[in-house]
Amino acid sequence: MAKTKSAYFCQSCGFESAKWLGQCPSCKQWNSLVEEVVEKSGSKVPEWRSTSVTSSPKRANKAAVIHEIVYQDESRILTPDQEFNRVLGGGIVPGSLVLIGGEPGIGKSTLMLQLALSIPQVKTLYISGEESEQQIKMRAERLSQSSNANCYILTETSTQNIFKQIEVVQPNVIVIDSIQTLHSSQIESAPGSVSQVRECTAELLRFAKETSTPVLIVGHITKDGSIAGPKVLEHMVDTVLQFEGDRHHVYRILRAVKNRFGSASELGIYEMQGSGLREVSNPSEIMISQRDAPVSGVSIAAMLEGARPMMIEVQALVSNSAFGNPQRTSTGFDTKRLSMLLAVLEKRFGFRLSAQDVFLNIAGGLRVEDPAIDLAVIVAIISSQQDIAVKTSITFAGEVGLSGEIRAVNRIEQRIAEAEKLGFEGIFISKFNTKGLDPKKYNIAIRPVATLEDVFRALF
Ligand code: TYD
Ligand code: MG
Repeated sequence: MAKTKSAYFCQSCGFESAKWLGQCPSCKQWNSLVEEVVEKSGSKVPEWRSTSVTSSPKRANKAAVIHEIVYQDESRILTPDQEFNRVLGGGIVPGSLVLIGGEPGIGKSTLMLQLALSIPQVKTLYISGEESEQQIKMRAERLSQSSNANCYILTETSTQNIFKQIEVVQPNVIVIDSIQTLHSSQIESAPGSVSQVRECTAELLRFAKETSTPVLIVGHITKDGSIAGPKVLEHMVDTVLQFEGDRHHVYRILRAVKNRFGSASELGIYEMQGSGLREVSNPSEIMISQRDAPVSGVSIAAMLEGARPMMIEVQALVSNSAFGNPQRTSTGFDTKRLSMLLAVLEKRFGFRLSAQDVFLNIAGGLRVEDPAIDLAVIVAIISSQQDIAVKTSITFAGEVGLSGEIRAVNRIEQRIAEAEKLGFEGIFISKFNTKGLDPKKYNIAIRPVATLEDVFRALF
């Protein structure tokens, strides 16, 4: 009888073990090891490989002097989507394996189909294991771009069949939606299991490298934010993009988490509309609400998302707590950080916030991690508590320390330049950020401050 080989895999991190264990030694998860069949008896060579002319196992690579190696940057495939190009570091690199992760329903399929439809100069193959041809066609019509004669659709989940179709179609760009639905006959376990996902990705990786065809893979994300199943997947691919945002808001952010061919701090912003995703090329304009008169509890932060400066509105509401236990709620901002800032205000400046509810909201459904937003958060909170409006023509960029000092933030010139470009009158920055800064260069009033006290004295 044919012998099958099996191993135990941790379903959360991909750790492999020969025997079952109660706790994964790698990620310390309990009861996460599951037996999976890793190899059927017989050939281990993927079918597409044995038929492909480009791969000959006898051919070995020779070492070459680095300056003799030629490469062409123009060979990157440029899409009409500027945001996508930028996140990838300037277009799709031939032979690259790109993973696009995101929660269900965030718009990964929409983004990928839109992309496949938008590059008629190259042949694209969109492979879906989740939807039928008719459903994809319906979606394409909704995107009003279904006229691309160079976009092929395949609904298939077996990698062997996929590679056969690839031989027939000879596409220049391949989209897989999603990796969790694929299965390879080399492995017996169910689609979506760690060993299947890993084997399918490995086959796609070999294919991409040997034929120089870029492959874009969609991957679902688990509740805790990691790509479902294996973390190993992230190591195998060249680029990991995260598609995120609040499903109930219209804005979506495409973020490079790892990129072998560009900066990992790039990001693109999209707006989900009835007819698909639209690029947002000037994010500051949409992140600030248009108002006639300034209202209390609102301030504008000059922050950076990735490498991109952006003005964003911070809204706070401070009200007397009806019960003994005051609430602290924040959307888009770390709640622990909010508590810390409130403690600084209470302890150092005597604001009696411990009996008040504090609600904080970052406009546009964004999640901000840039510490430079601290100052704007504090200004919004005090503005609401004192019921004194702050002019929306003033913006803030500074990190707040535990003693109420305003600390320097990175790329201050970029933040100032963006604020100036958008017509702000003034910007509050840390005193420690002014080194080497020439205020005369800018058409905006730069207000260096050392502590929160300086800020309060100027505003309230
Ligand atoms: P989808 O791309 O199917 O998400 P994913 O592949 O990440 O699971 O997008 C699903 C959501 O996008 C769905 O809630 C409807 C919305 N949507 C629009 O608002 N406009 C559109 O044109 C399309 C195609 C989808
Ligand atoms: Mg989908």
